[in-house]
Amino acid sequence: MSLDLIEPLSIDSWNPVLDTAAQSAAIDTAAQDAAIDALEAGKVLYLPRLRFDVQAAERRFLSTQWSDGKSKNIYLRGRERVLRGTVGSAEDQAALAAMIERFGSNAQSLVSALFPCYVPHLQFGNTSFRPFEIEGRPPKSFRKDDTRLHSDAFPSNPTAGARLLRVFTNVNAQGRPRVWRVGEPFGDMAARILPRARRQWPGEAALLHALHVTKKRRSQFDHFMLELHDRTKADLDYQRDMPQQRVEFPPGSTWIVFSDQVLHAVLSGAMMMEQTWMLPVAALRHPERAPLRVLESMVGRALI
Ligand code: SIN
Ligand code: FE
Repeated sequence: MSLDLIEPLSIDSWNPVLDTAAQSAAIDTAAQDAAIDALEAGKVLYLPRLRFDVQAAERRFLSTQWSDGKSKNIYLRGRERVLRGTVGSAEDQAALAAMIERFGSNAQSLVSALFPCYVPHLQFGNTSFRPFEIEGRPPKSFRKDDTRLHSDAFPSNPTAGARLLRVFTNVNAQGRPRVWRVGEPFGDMAARILPRARRQWPGEAALLHALHVTKKRRSQFDHFMLELHDRTKADLDYQRDMPQQRVEFPPGSTWIVFSDQVLHAVLSGAMMMEQTWMLPVAALRHPERAPLRVLESMVGRALI
């Protein structure tokens, strides 16, 4: 079966102005509506000509040498904005943090222009720089293996139903694309995998929280999202046979997804920037398409 999950957008500026005149840096309300509908339907919004401007003095950062060797990403965490995952002099670290921060503000102005109705509800999360080549890097476990298709769910960070919105930009300087696979719609995956999911044990959420395994109590929704994530990754027949599409994102291109919804896997590529936000379900135009609502309608009860 063939899929068409890629929705191209011709915008080539991080700050497109709202304008009805057909300028390359402009966006109108019809384009905003189409972008929101496509995003919430589980498509990948693809901006083939939106590049991140790595300045001449920053090109040296497009290397794995700044990694601390423990964390796979170098990142600014959520609101605290402290640089993590890196080694280097205070001066180098400040310059690297400034580059990553600039990507975060570019991404924020882009989503503000594209999805103005989300803006009051967006919670700005981590901004990461991902220097390592994906291909040939053995993962620590199948759960951490992002070369297998999955929808995002994090063991220690329950979202209580909030969406994970992500903007990615390939900054590879050697012409190397970021190669992804994207898979069948979330509801199709859930219909297949949810019947195999283990139910949460009584007291499990409280125990995991008390043991600091989770930062907040893991809701039933978060429990099921982790089950779907793990069981999708574990099922190699499903990985091979599910309807899927290979996509190449060349350097100088940007893409936007709800990564809790779009089944995705990364096959190869190195040097990418990424920004994450959380977004409450109530802020969506089509809340019934959110994983929370899809799973609740399948099990027939509230999961939060
Ligand atoms: C992922 O979110 O699974 C990884 C995406 C990437 O690093 O390209
Ligand atoms: Fe992922």
